[in-house]
Amino acid sequence: METSAHGTSPLIELGINIDHVATLRQARRTFEPDPVVAAALAEQGGADGITFHLREDRRHIQERDVELLMATVTVKTNMEFGCAQEIVDIACKAAPTWGLLVPEHREEVTTEGGLDVAADQGRVAAAIQQLKEHNILVSLFIDADPHQVEAAAKLGADAVELHTGPYALATRDAVSLELKRLTEAGQVTTELGMRLHAGHGLNYTNVRPVARIPDMIELNIGHSVMSRAMMVGMREAVAEMRRIIDVCCP
Ligand code: PXP
Repeated sequence: METSAHGTSPLIELGINIDHVATLRQARRTFEPDPVVAAALAEQGGADGITFHLREDRRHIQERDVELLMATVTVKTNMEFGCAQEIVDIACKAAPTWGLLVPEHREEVTTEGGLDVAADQGRVAAAIQQLKEHNILVSLFIDADPHQVEAAAKLGADAVELHTGPYALATRDAVSLELKRLTEAGQVTTELGMRLHAGHGLNYTNVRPVARIPDMIELNIGHSVMSRAMMVGMREAVAEMRRIIDVCCP
């Protein structure tokens, strides 16, 4: 068994969310940058999974991306979506490794809050059933609340992805409080036989304590890695354009 640097636990799987690459492309409605190419590069960098969110409003990922990602990604695919029937049908046709159910509101900038599994059982249960009929593993994005974890287990989820947004936004004493919430919800998750995933707002400085939560299996990270990619690539990208222009000048 491979081990992590901090003990004998297995290495944590890193899912890379490539939505923001599509956000940049859609800002110009052009062909670049292509999230499918970004996914291939993320794989080369060591991603264990590629996460993409097909929103009802198609603000970033398009159906064309879903089709090409499914045809080219060689690691796990984690397709994120709300419970709208149209999107659940597309997911069933695409058949990703994981279907990650999230709440979705048109006005939101990003996913806000976890699914209220306990209150929205009908729609969530119907989506889970349909996904399972297509042999798609189901993960539910929920707040670090034992009641939500229990409701997820009752509906037969294979995993929960704990919402780390409140932890990422916390300051001072609230940080350890949020970490405690995540740890306790994580414990209930594994006791109930589900895989423990987490994500949202994780970055290069706040990820370590979450990676050390017992039984953590997978972290899904997007914004921070995309931001960093832009910065570490900036110098080379500008130098390349400089070289092209320079050879045009005698
Ligand atoms: N997990 C879920 C369910 C998300 O909606 C998102 C954001 O798209 C992420 C993880 C990744 O969050 P971030 O982009 O803040 O790393």
